[in-house]
Amino acid sequence: MKDLRHVPFFLLSCTCLLLCAATPVRADIRREAEALVNWKASLAGSHESLGSWSLANSTRLCKWTHILCNSDGHISKLDLSGASLNGTLDRFDFWAFPHLEFLDLSQNDLYGIIPPGIGNLTSLVELYIFNNSLRGAIPRSIGQLKHLAVLELSYLELDGSLPEEIGNMTSLEVLYISSTTLTGSIPLTIGMLVKLQVLWLDNNNLTGSIPMEIGNMTELQDIYSPRNNLEGQLPGTISHLIKLQYFHLFENQLRGNIIPELWNSSFLETVDIEKNNFSGLFPSSICIGGAMHLVIAGYNGFTGIQPWTFRNCTTLHAIDFTENNIAADLRDYFDEHPGQLRVMDFSQNQLYGTLLTNWGEVFLCNFTYLKLLDLSNNALHGALSKCFWDMPSLSFIDLSSNSFTGVVPSSRTCKDSLNYLHLANNHFKGAFPLAIKKCRNLITLDLGGNNFSGTIPSWISKSLPGLKFLRLSSNMFEDDFTNFTGMSHEQGDIDYVDAGYYTHLEQIQIVWKNVDHIYIIMIAGMAGIDLSGNLLSQEIPGGLTTLLELRYLNLSGNHLSGCIPEYIGNLLLLESLDLSRNQLSGEIPPSFAGLKSISTLNLSSNGLSGRIPTSNQLQTLVDPSIYSNNSGLCGFPLEDCVSSSTSKHGETGQGEDMEALWLYCFVAAGFIFGFWLYWSIFLRHSETWGCAFYQHVDNMQEQFSKKVHSCIWCFQATRTKRARLVQPRSSFLSF
Ligand SMILES: *[C@@H]1O[C@H](CO)[C@@H](O)[C@H](O)[C@H]1NC(C)=O
Ligand SMILES: *[C@@H]1O[C@H](CO)[C@@H](O)[C@H](O)[C@H]1NC(C)=O
Ligand SMILES: *[C@@H]1O[C@H](CO)[C@@H](O)[C@H](O)[C@H]1NC(C)=O
Ligand SMILES: *[C@@H]1O[C@H](CO)[C@@H](O)[C@H](O)[C@H]1NC(C)=O
Ligand SMILES: *[C@@H]1O[C@H](CO)[C@@H](O)[C@H](O)[C@H]1NC(C)=O
Ligand SMILES: *[C@@H]1O[C@H](CO)[C@@H](O)[C@H](O)[C@H]1NC(C)=O
Ligand SMILES: *[C@@H]1O[C@H](CO)[C@@H](O)[C@H](O)[C@H]1NC(C)=O
Ligand SMILES: *[C@@H]1O[C@H](CO)[C@@H](O)[C@H](O)[C@H]1NC(C)=O
Ligand SMILES: *[C@@H]1O[C@H](CO)[C@@H](O)[C@H](O)[C@H]1NC(C)=O
Ligand SMILES: *[C@@H]1O[C@H](CO)[C@@H](O)[C@H](O)[C@H]1NC(C)=O
Ligand SMILES: *[C@@H]1O[C@H](CO)[C@@H](O)[C@H](O)[C@H]1NC(C)=O
Ligand SMILES: *[C@@H]1O[C@H](CO)[C@@H](O)[C@H](O)[C@H]1NC(C)=O
Repeated sequence: MKDLRHVPFFLLSCTCLLLCAATPVRADIRREAEALVNWKASLAGSHESLGSWSLANSTRLCKWTHILCNSDGHISKLDLSGASLNGTLDRFDFWAFPHLEFLDLSQNDLYGIIPPGIGNLTSLVELYIFNNSLRGAIPRSIGQLKHLAVLELSYLELDGSLPEEIGNMTSLEVLYISSTTLTGSIPLTIGMLVKLQVLWLDNNNLTGSIPMEIGNMTELQDIYSPRNNLEGQLPGTISHLIKLQYFHLFENQLRGNIIPELWNSSFLETVDIEKNNFSGLFPSSICIGGAMHLVIAGYNGFTGIQPWTFRNCTTLHAIDFTENNIAADLRDYFDEHPGQLRVMDFSQNQLYGTLLTNWGEVFLCNFTYLKLLDLSNNALHGALSKCFWDMPSLSFIDLSSNSFTGVVPSSRTCKDSLNYLHLANNHFKGAFPLAIKKCRNLITLDLGGNNFSGTIPSWISKSLPGLKFLRLSSNMFEDDFTNFTGMSHEQGDIDYVDAGYYTHLEQIQIVWKNVDHIYIIMIAGMAGIDLSGNLLSQEIPGGLTTLLELRYLNLSGNHLSGCIPEYIGNLLLLESLDLSRNQLSGEIPPSFAGLKSISTLNLSSNGLSGRIPTSNQLQTLVDPSIYSNNSGLCGFPLEDCVSSSTSKHGETGQGEDMEALWLYCFVAAGFIFGFWLYWSIFLRHSETWGCAFYQHVDNMQEQFSKKVHSCIWCFQATRTKRARLVQPRSSFLSF
């Protein structure tokens, strides 16, 4: 009984304890639920999954979608990534979430500003607000987030600069502020982030120099801050970053020397400082750390590289020093241990010397992993070695614009890996290199601007079925040329050399002449043929018009005769056509009007005559000079054919020319026939060489009758067209 007296008191105190304990928790939780529901109500839209967010449901807060509670029933994680939130953060009561550790608002349609109240989320450890339309500045109160370890504020439309309070977030380990249009300089307080491992500030408009305080951030592993306007020199304190793995500062305006101590980190594997204004000697011992993979230092002002810099570089995959002022003998940088180098780009420097070792082999041929070799635009000389054809991984070779000489060595093999071969603008000579016949996966072949001579071999189209761009311009190729049927099938659009994480776009430089501008267009994946500036004679083969993928055709500056191929209009994709400075004659074929992509055209300095075909596309080419210096063209953009007296005058001249040509054809044919008859009688008895001779004469005759036939075609075309266009003239008909 004694005990029973205490029962109601016990119950009372129990109830009191329960109430006393439960009531404050409920109030806090209710506040969290209210804050979320109120904010949701302020939004113009949200994902249907937020349907469970209602006050009627507040007792089950921890079951709401996108929410995770801690053991006390408070919201610790709010993951609203991609929840179609349309609205602002103005009504978000940050103060209601003192236990929130994780907040993700990324990939929504939030606009307005990031409110200063965000600093009230004092327990926050991870904050992600990327890919929204938020504007304004980063609030200074962000510095109050003392426990924040990960902050991502990327792909926003913020302005202003990085607040110096950023240095107050001393727990920060990962900081991504990419593509947020920030301006101003990096605050010195950043050095206080001594736990920071990842620093991404890329694609902003940051100015000023990199503060020396960066040296205090000794945990840094990944600096990725390309595409800003950072200037000045790299601070020497960078040598303290002995855990550095990735160092990306490309496309800034940094200058001065690179200190050798940058390589202090034995973890350093990528250095990309392309497109800055660094100068001086590139420091040696780059591979001393033992982890270096990728060194991209193109488009700077480096004047040299310390000798033996790439010695012992067994882990190095790619080196790119394109467009610097490096004047050196390449052989001084490497030794006999080529390691795994894949990519080597020293284009547009002043490299000199040869590629040959003392015993005449190209030293580079031992680099069996090499996929891309670009040594174009240097001052290298000497011959090539045939070992080039045996390099097992090589996909891209560019040795253009050097002073290489001699004959391109022949070989019985060529590796299937070879796709792009550029040997232009050197002093190579001899016949079309036979070794190329085995390179059956070739996509681009550029032999322009050398002293190659002889015929363009007929095997090109069969042996190189994937060829997309063929440039043989400015050589001494002569005679007939061949059908390039390989380009007739559909091809992909973009070509690039893929060497792991280093990719290189295949680009061809072409000069497009248009009105009075010269455009340099870098193209990729375009089918083109450039045979300009050779000694090609005879006719343009009709087979060219089967190359339906052709976008660029330049045959200018040869001795081509006969007509423009009848079906040229089949080339619906052709954008640039240059047939100028040849001896083409006859009318422009009617199908010409079908070139519906043509934007650059030059037919000047030939013997063309008659009416220029019309089409919507041709009417856009208003410059008369593209037809100038022909024997008698008329029609837009030249003078009209019928009404103009000058054109009639031209036609008279043309008609007379035709008569002369026709007469010439017949006289010559008669002469050949007579000649053949004479010799056939004379040589009747000496049969042994007579046979061969007959055959030769037969061939001659065949060739000649082909020509006569083409004369007739041109002439007939001219005549029928003309008969329809103008009043027939008696001299014309009597013929
Ligand atoms: C957000 O809501 C407003 C108002 O309803 C609407 O005009 C706008 O198109 C919405 N934005 C998006 C991205 O859905
Ligand atoms: C309450 O929340 C639960 C769990 O998310 C949900 O299934 C239920 O539909 C919600 N009820 C109301 C009335 O919103
Ligand atoms: C941003 O979000 C949109 C749709 O929400 C998506 O299409 C886009 O890829 C995202 N961009 C980034 C950089 O994540
Ligand atoms: C929340 O943050 C704002 C801005 O930093 C501040 O003015 C306000 O006092 C904070 N609220 C509380 C309750 O601390
Ligand atoms: C935060 O940063 C500012 C500016 O760097 C500094 O003046 C202030 O003392 C810091 N506050 C705290 C609490 O560390
Ligand atoms: C970056 O800043 C420069 C100089 O203030 C300005 O000219 C440029 O337009 C800015 N670029 C962007 C993308 O904001
Ligand atoms: C940070 O770096 C600066 C300059 O290198 C130095 O003077 C300062 O003592 C460093 N601060 C800390 C806390 O290490
Ligand atoms: C970096 O390297 C230099 C020279 O090799 C050395 O003197 C310095 O002590 C190194 N710094 C660190 C932090 O290891
Ligand atoms: C690069 O630096 C050189 C001197 O080292 C200077 O003459 C040149 O103007 C700088 N270029 C740019 C784009 O800053
Ligand atoms: C290259 O390696 C050899 C042997 O491992 C070593 O003796 C030499 O000092 C190294 N050279 C450089 C430049 O690191
Ligand atoms: C290439 O390597 C072989 C053996 O691996 C060696 O005998 C030869 O001298 C090397 N050639 C060059 C040019 O370094
Ligand atoms: C060139 O190709 C065309 C069309 O395929 C064909 O008619 C012609 O006979 C070919 N000429 C030669 C010489 O192969």
